[in-house]
Amino acid sequence: MVRFGDDSLLDSYLTQDETSVIDALIVQYQSRPGALMPLLHAIQDQVGFVPESSYPAISKALALSVAEVYGVVTFYHHFRTHRPGRHVLHVCRAESCQAMGSEALEAHAKKCLGVDYHQTTADGAVTLEPVYCLGNCALSPSVMIDEAVHGRVTPADLDALIAEAKAS
Ligand code: FES
Repeated sequence: MVRFGDDSLLDSYLTQDETSVIDALIVQYQSRPGALMPLLHAIQDQVGFVPESSYPAISKALALSVAEVYGVVTFYHHFRTHRPGRHVLHVCRAESCQAMGSEALEAHAKKCLGVDYHQTTADGAVTLEPVYCLGNCALSPSVMIDEAVHGRVTPADLDALIAEAKAS
């Protein structure tokens, strides 16, 4: 039996628009070979996450088991299973950034936000995610908030980015 996350009901409040988008994407991708990964990416790009409530429809359309869909979504760190906050903060954990102090930066981010990776602050402002290279290694350590990459980030810089995100 597939056991979804304890808070799987959190995504049960999909809007009608989000449900329609997911349904349309499933129709769009279902006849393509190797459709699962591109479909999951498309859902996350357009809805912001891959809701657990969509797994049965995905599995049926692609002739996979729900367990297979669940396994792929949870295997890849990139995919979120729950609705993100208004902003998403990615902290780079790859080699160059680690050599330049990203471990301390991620500890600082977790402490400041009061969340672990893949979690969202109680005010819904910021979701914290790990990332494995932002292509900004020369300016390690790097973070990305929403689509903006920042390099040579200090804890003070991170505080400022978080404060800005929480205020908007
Ligand atoms: S290792 Fe962090 S940006 Fe490349």
